[in-house]
Amino acid sequence: MAEKKARLTIDGESIDLPVYSPSVGPDVVDVARLISLGYFTYDPGYLSTVSCESAITYIDGDAGILRHRGYSIEQLAEHSNFLEVCYLLLYGKLPTDEEFSNFQSAIQLEQTIEDYLISVLSGFSRDAHPMGIMCSLVGAMSAHYHNEIDITDIENRHKTAIRLIAKIPILAAMTLRHIRNQEFIMPDPNRGYGENFLHMMFSENDSSPISSVLARAMDRIFLLHADHEQNASTSTVRLVGSTDANPYACIASGIAALWGPSHGGANEAVLQMLKEIGDRSKISEYLERAKDPSDPRRIMGFGHRVYKNYDPRAKVLQETYREVLDSLDIESDPTLQMAQDLEKVALNDEYFVERRLYPNVDFYSGIILKALGIPTSMFTVIFVVGRTPGWIAQWNEMISHGYKIGRPRQMYTGDVIRDYPLK
Ligand code: CMC
Repeated sequence: MAEKKARLTIDGESIDLPVYSPSVGPDVVDVARLISLGYFTYDPGYLSTVSCESAITYIDGDAGILRHRGYSIEQLAEHSNFLEVCYLLLYGKLPTDEEFSNFQSAIQLEQTIEDYLISVLSGFSRDAHPMGIMCSLVGAMSAHYHNEIDITDIENRHKTAIRLIAKIPILAAMTLRHIRNQEFIMPDPNRGYGENFLHMMFSENDSSPISSVLARAMDRIFLLHADHEQNASTSTVRLVGSTDANPYACIASGIAALWGPSHGGANEAVLQMLKEIGDRSKISEYLERAKDPSDPRRIMGFGHRVYKNYDPRAKVLQETYREVLDSLDIESDPTLQMAQDLEKVALNDEYFVERRLYPNVDFYSGIILKALGIPTSMFTVIFVVGRTPGWIAQWNEMISHGYKIGRPRQMYTGDVIRDYPLK
């Protein structure tokens, strides 16, 4: 029972609505019974709407807080690796050594790619978009794993989670090698998750070495993207899942939602902006245009809709960015040099300081991915690999608690009724 109540008065009639207090965050007014009184609520873009209860991730944008299961992203990035965070998101606790080893072994057992996936991939032309390919491959998994799936069975749901976390990075790396017309490289059980991903994408043979700085950077990018509560793609996975749809199809729908430039495509936009600037000598000129309200240009990778002080993921990634750039020969890469100059100039510019506009996670991830040699068309695919555990943990949480099919209402503004014109 809610102790607090909110009173809504419409046309002189008062309606008491329960107000719930979450463990942390703003109180929540329960408007569910308004429909029985003949009213809907209106909230395009769901800016004020809570769609579910969740115990996975907490964000406070004003305070720059991101926590998974109560642990801050800063501490997780410092002490954990991506696979441990996957375990945390899925099972609600950090694994013991034994639990982690069993989890890792279960993932390794699923690191195989069946022939049907290779056939689907080989049907795509070399210039197909990697995100379209990923949607199709995960969609194909839904067709393959269909009869055996019982979403009411917890073991079955965990098997699905393991399978997705195991196979999605392999499919992502195979997608890159397919568009580059290169032979596939399968994962090596002796390498960590981030290292394996770079190995599968870039190695020339099974024993090619991968730099530990770059492997750590890859793992950290995945870790920092693992979950971000009810964003567009996660809400899509939940909405599709609320129909009891096949979980692989739910994840494919999440991939489709993430593909949009307003969601997963921002780090790609950072690289496009650097290309547009073209030269270090043009940075000030571009900055002036980004500050001009009559010019639509912005400094891509600066500012955030939710994090108004700083993006905690960006702070963590800034360290990795420096480590990666220090470990590479950037003197010969004008784009990376330009990124460093732009960061310095914008961080000291009055306009950006006054408006508290800081580099966000996409600024640093865009530059790091470029430094790792990943083509921009693959950037959102990297995000898919990182976000998979978040999607599947949120889906699993929804299925294991009671849920209703998601079915928003509308404010109809069309013709009320028209007679069909008879000829
Ligand atoms: N470059 C120049 N000016 C900016 C920028 C920017 N990147 N971001 C905000 N401003 C200005 C804005 O014009 C406004 O100016 P004024 O006060 O003179 O009207 C002021 O700063 C405050 O803007 P805001 O209300 O804080 O920004 P917003 O909430 O409307 O937009 C944003 C947030 C992320 C869309 C915007 O900062 C932006 O377009 N950034 C660049 C694109 C980008 O990097 N997007 C990725 C975001 S992270 C995605 C994720 O987490 O998944």
